[in-house]
Amino acid sequence: MPGPEQPADLSQPAVDRMVADALAAFTAAGSSAELKAARLAHTGEKSPLALANRAIGTIPGPERKESGQRLGSARAVVNRALAEREAAIGAAELERQLAEERIDVTLPVDLGPEGAPHPITALMDLMGDVFIDMGWEIAEGPEAESEWLNFDALNLGPDHPARGTSDTLFVHPIGDHIVLRTHTSPVQIRSMLDRELPIYVVCPGKVYRADEFDATHVPVFHQIEGLCVDKGISLAHLKGTLDHLAAAMFGEGIRTRMRPHYFPFTEPSAEVDLQCFVCHGESVGNPDAPCRTCKSQGWIEWGGCGVVNPRVLIACGIDPEVYSGFAFGMGIERTLMFRNNAADMRDMVEGDVRFSRSLKGTAR
Ligand code: DAH
Repeated sequence: MPGPEQPADLSQPAVDRMVADALAAFTAAGSSAELKAARLAHTGEKSPLALANRAIGTIPGPERKESGQRLGSARAVVNRALAEREAAIGAAELERQLAEERIDVTLPVDLGPEGAPHPITALMDLMGDVFIDMGWEIAEGPEAESEWLNFDALNLGPDHPARGTSDTLFVHPIGDHIVLRTHTSPVQIRSMLDRELPIYVVCPGKVYRADEFDATHVPVFHQIEGLCVDKGISLAHLKGTLDHLAAAMFGEGIRTRMRPHYFPFTEPSAEVDLQCFVCHGESVGNPDAPCRTCKSQGWIEWGGCGVVNPRVLIACGIDPEVYSGFAFGMGIERTLMFRNNAADMRDMVEGDVRFSRSLKGTAR
């Protein structure tokens, strides 16, 4: 049985003791958790000060006012001391946390191996950019292409040797007349059928041939095709454009030549050669210093080109009396071989990251 409630002692010495106890407890608290306990004990509902405060009502008239003031100022002192201590402890704790959690941003980190775009991709982008800088556009076409666009529309008749199954990969069933495009030239036709004149486009992309897989042949490789159709276009524009591309790829001073050739979709046609960058032509007629790169020819073949055959323009509904054009196409792998001394095409498809890494940044 709890005894009768003791009348609270609200005398000045008693209140002073409550305050002194509270201040001592706050000072003793070393952490916010300890201060919280001290706060509950000395200002909480069951603290001596709170109990005393509640007892004020029971005190008779004249003494009540005095006790009320005494308690009021005591509580004010305690609350102020509590707030100060809270601020001090909070600041100290923050300080400690900042020091403990400090991150040294200069420490070396292990980011893992760094990737690189495949040299073929990088070179295709670079070649495309040479043309974009001149205001040309990038054109695209599907890799599984209709036989008609890959051959017929390009004036490669039904008896053309390239159409045989030994060179061309047909998509099953053969009766659907879909092939894996053997060159990027069908994009020429697509561009002439789809676009407004004049046309200035390049098409970098994958092509497929039923070829061997060796140092200089891969069955899947890349070409970049170029096509320009405008009024008054001549072979001179073609030569200027190819020289500009060659200089961008191999540096100013590279020499090119156009050697007459035959392509059914251009007339006249040529193959474009680069002067051998190993012997610079000095091996020609010089058996004492043969050159393996150009086989002592002085030149190496880079791609094919020519003036768009009027028959192709007509097939695409373009009046050859008004418009003329030029076209060219070259292998990206070959360009990479010449540009970066990559001797073996197999390196380009085998996916060894060391190959990509060794050429990283060179195609920029
Ligand atoms: N398509 C030819 C090939 O794959 C290359 C070519 C030759 C493209 C002449 C052309 C061109 O645009 O005019 O061998």
